Amino acid sequence: MRMNKIIKASYIMESGDEIKRLEKKTSPEALKKQVVWAGLKPGMRTLDVGCGSGKTTSFLKQIIGFDADAVGLDYSTERIGFAKENYEAEGITFFEKDIYDSLDDLGRFDFIWVRFFLEYHLEAQFDIVKKLKSLLNPGGIICLADLDHNNLSHYGISRRLEKALESSISALEKHHDFDPYAGRKLYTHLYDLGFADINVEVTYHHLVFGAVEEDEEFNWLQKVAVGGKFSGYDFPEYENGFEEFYRDCRDFFRDPRSFTYTPLIICRGISPS
Ligand SMILES: C[S@@+](CC[C@H](N)C(=O)[O-])C[C@H]1O[C@@H](n2cnc3c(N)ncnc32)[C@H](O)[C@@H]1O
Repeated sequence: MRMNKIIKASYIMESGDEIKRLEKKTSPEALKKQVVWAGLKPGMRTLDVGCGSGKTTSFLKQIIGFDADAVGLDYSTERIGFAKENYEAEGITFFEKDIYDSLDDLGRFDFIWVRFFLEYHLEAQFDIVKKLKSLLNPGGIICLADLDHNNLSHYGISRRLEKALESSISALEKHHDFDPYAGRKLYTHLYDLGFADINVEVTYHHLVFGAVEEDEEFNWLQKVAVGGKFSGYDFPEYENGFEEFYRDCRDFFRDPRSFTYTPLIICRGISPS
């Protein structure tokens, strides 16, 4: 399978603050709306792929109820450790596993949730979805949710900052398996894999105007700081390189005149029996 030949990319958002970022940015209301739209119901055995700190898995468990299992999977020792310590309970288990490893021991699922994950796997995303399909029970649902134009839709931004953002994201795309356009591809992945009853919802993830909220600013600046450094781009637009670029980003987000949004595309399909 093509997946085995791929050199595994490391996670571009890796940092000592990644658990904090995931805990802060996860909105239970938004998550609930998305999974209920996708068809998650009580009693469905559920897999949360790239579960991070485990917060999303714990919300999924609340929806499926006491008699169904929620399983969280992530390859980060630190985040799985945190998830086990903070969210593991009866009917919620966490596995430290790489998506490229065998997943056969996880069993079969009625619902598979894959949010903000395929964007880190530009090359293998189709094969990942294909692999996940094999874990679904007949009639089971997969729901993919990812950003489009990730970190690229701003207004009121200087040409210099816009160019620096575009170039650093392009470096992540070229060298680090990152896909800023993962969202627009989800429908076609499900179509090509023969899923039935495919449905698509387009909403937004970030929407920033006026006074930026503290959690939103933290999330953005972490993305800029961690992703920007990881990209290896040296920010020639700025005399003082990355540090000056970072300050310019911060000032842009704090400017009440600035407008920023990121489309979130959610796509779900049913595994044919
Ligand atoms: C942005 S977080 C997603 C958090 C969560 N899914 C959500 O909706 O908020 C992406 C997670 O995917 C995990 N991840 C990335 N590549 C992986 C891989 N190859 N195998 C398992 N987990 C992976 C990272 O460790 C990280 O915790």
